[in-house]
Parts: sequence; C-alpha cells; structure tokens
Amino acid sequence: MIYASMRSIASYIPKQCITNFDLEKIVDTSNEWITKRTGIKTRYFADKTQATSDLATYAGELAIQRAGLRPSDIDLVIVATLSPDFLGMPSTACIASHNLGIHNKPAFDITTACTGFIYLLSLAKAYIQAGMYENILIIGAEKISSLLDFNDRSTCVLFGDGAGASVISATSDQNEAIVDVHISANGQYSDFLVTPGCGSRNPANQHVIDSNLQFIQMKGNETFKLAVKTLANDVDYILKANSMQPEDIKFFIPHQANLRIISAVGEMLDFHQDQIVVTVDQFGNTSAASIPMAINSVYEAQKLQKGDLLLLDAFGGGLTWGSALLRFGGL
Ligand code: COA
Repeated sequence: MIYASMRSIASYIPKQCITNFDLEKIVDTSNEWITKRTGIKTRYFADKTQATSDLATYAGELAIQRAGLRPSDIDLVIVATLSPDFLGMPSTACIASHNLGIHNKPAFDITTACTGFIYLLSLAKAYIQAGMYENILIIGAEKISSLLDFNDRSTCVLFGDGAGASVISATSDQNEAIVDVHISANGQYSDFLVTPGCGSRNPANQHVIDSNLQFIQMKGNETFKLAVKTLANDVDYILKANSMQPEDIKFFIPHQANLRIISAVGEMLDFHQDQIVVTVDQFGNTSAASIPMAINSVYEAQKLQKGDLLLLDAFGGGLTWGSALLRFGGL
C-alpha cells in the first residue's frame, strides 16, 4: 500500500515587520483595538521588489533541503495563493519551479484562499496514492499586502505576507502518513470575502481602480460567525470519521485569522491550551501560507517529532473549508 507523507516543512517570513503602532500612523485604528479584536501584534510585509513567487521560492528551497532531496527529485509543484504574481498567467508555480531549478515537471496554482494548504494536501495525497508521483512540492504563498486597501481599517490590519512549503512523498509506513483530508466549499457566500475588481466580472478600468475594487473586501462579522461554526463542525467530523478524540492529537493547527476564532473553536472542541498552535499574533492572517507557517513554527521550536499526530483546520474565501489529520513524516 502506498501512503502520502509530509516529509518536510519550511517557511519564509519577509524582512519588514509592521507593528500595530506602525498601522496607527496610516489608518484610523489603534494597537488596543487590533489586539483586543484579533490578537494580532505584528505582521510581515514583503518589499517592493518581491512577488509571491519569490517568497514561495525561499520556502520551497528549504522544504526540499529539509526533505533531503534535490530539485530534480520533485515530480510536481503546486502553489496555493490568492495573490499570484500575475492575474491569469503564468502561474506562480511555474515561476517558483523555474527559480528552484525544477525543469520539465508539471506546475500549477490553485485558488482556495485561506483553505489553500488543506486543498494542496488533498491533491498531493491523491496523486501519490494513485501512484502517479513520488515527491510533490506544495507551497502556500502570499503577498497579500499588494491586495490591501490601506484606507479600509477593517481589512488592512488583519493580513500579512509569507510562505510555507512542504514536500509530500510516497511511503509504505502508515506511521508517518497523511491519515485523512476533508475539503468542501459553498459559493452561496462568495461575497463574504472577495477581490471584486480586475477579473472578468469587473475588468480593469479607471472606475475599478478609482473605487479600489482591486483590493480585498470582507464582511467581517458574518465571516466570523460562520468561521467558528464551520471550523468546529469540520474538526468534529474528521475526528469522528477516524474514531479519534481531541486527546489523541499532539497539535491542533487551525487557520490563523483571528485569536478569538481560534480560542472559540479550541474551547468548543475541548483542546488544551498547549495543543493549540497560535502564530496569528506574530504573522497576522497569511491566508494559504498560514497553516504551513504555523506547522513550521512548532517544527523550528523542536517540538515536533516524527509520527506526531497533527490536526489542521482552515476556512476562507469561496467560501471554502477543510481539515486534515496527519502523522508528521519529517526528521
Ligand atoms: N480599528 C478600529 N476600529 C475598527 C477597525 C480597526 N482596524 N476595524 C473595524 N473597526 C470598528 C468598526 O468600524 C465598528 O465600529 P462601529 O461599531 O462604530 O461601526 C467596530 O469596530 C466593530 O466592527 P466589527 O466589524 O463589528 O468588529 P468585529 O468584532 O467583528 O471584528 C474582525 C472585526 C474583522 C476582526 C472580525 O469580524 C473578524 O475577525 N472576522 C473574520 C475574519 C476572518 O476570519 N477572515 C478570513 C477568513 S480567512
């Protein structure tokens, strides 16, 4: 039997740290409001010369190295992003692949917003179990700062840039395998999180630009309520489907959008504080990069051992959501 295993994890954090106090200077907000309502203290922004593929390349390079592989060993590259280098084409995955020295191998992007990494895991698992590929590089990468309206205080304080990457490899050892991945979507709520301008619905023109429609818009309150309910249901579903309890999990790693959402979901599901991984305070919401960056934070803190059971859970624009159970397969 072939299983898929998370062989490595890595991330890239851009250099420029933006504090809540920095944002106080450009938008009508306060450190107190941001901290109390979101738990975010800092986030990192890529510099003007960097595009999403550059962040993806740094994280991807480290993930390949940590998997003990060379670029030529990678059979497929998939990038999840809502902030691609270019609208339409070429894909960010093609550019990152080229930067990484991965030649003549398939590469493509997916757009499932903050649920990106869970969708990537489901694709990698399916390709590997079908016997099509042996080593797949999956990357969640975002330069969301390029999509933020710094006149809109309800969104611009929430997000940050970054990238997280992982090599998913074939294995025969069930003790280091991805156990289960569950993904879903409901387009009924597609207006909750949206970048309305510059796509085929509202092609780029002066009106679109003058109205700031190229930036992220969010129905924060409605999204918040749905996020808590959906994330909690989703965790419950995947645990029951695999006959597991919260106490079987080493780390619960939810999407990092808001500390209040994470705490509410954690409490509803009876996770202990030390099981729940929180990075939203440092990085803000880095969308598709949020979960791999959070896994990497426990990896780099040397808290993650081979075989540890991780429960991942995400929710984002689309709306999309998903969860994954996996035994870490890295060293
Ligand atoms: N600084 C100061 N005040 C702000 C502010 C900011 N950055 N952003 C909003 N406010 C104000 C609002 O204008 C509003 O003022 P009013 O009562 O005078 O109208 C007040 O704060 C409350 O706004 P509201 O939107 O109801 O706040 P909230 O408690 O829902 O928190 C979010 C806002 C965005 C932090 C919260 O809704 C959230 O986290 N939503 C979900 C985010 C999410 O999960 N997103 C993506 C999934 S990937």
